[in-house]
Amino acid sequence: MNYSSLRSSVFVTVAIASASTVFAAPVKVDVEAAMKVFKENECHKCHNPDKEKKGPSFKKIAAKYRGKPDAEQKLIKHMTTGPRIKLENGKEEDHKIIDTEDPIVLKNMAQWILSH
Ligand code: HEC
Repeated sequence: MNYSSLRSSVFVTVAIASASTVFAAPVKVDVEAAMKVFKENECHKCHNPDKEKKGPSFKKIAAKYRGKPDAEQKLIKHMTTGPRIKLENGKEEDHKIIDTEDPIVLKNMAQWILSH
């Protein structure tokens, strides 16, 4: 192999590798960490991955936000600002504010919910 064909094959390999990171970029969710925060914050009193409780199931939330690019931000805002909500039984209250301001924890939580 001469120098120029070696150079172009290196170039192609690098191009393929970087293209796949751009396009595939799977969001990695740390499920265990998310479940721990979920339990510690008593989110499970009102949410379940696939059953409707006082609040919507994660399946329902994920379906509502599917394909929406601002889903993660919306969920983080919801979890951190305590908006007024209506429970399934018609009662109104302020939503629970999650007990963390760590952006990594919040992002993981939002992506875990959206992964359902
Ligand atoms: C007292 C019951 C209750 C608790 C506890 C609770 N939630 Fe909720 N949550 C609700 C209800 C009810 C809604 C639906 C609000 C609406 O759509 O108006 C909701 C909605 C949501 C949504 C969807 C917002 C949207 O835009 O559709 C997310 C995300 C969420 N909760 C996350 C959490 C997390 C994380 C916790 C724990 C920190 C938590 N919730 C604790 C009742 C609760």
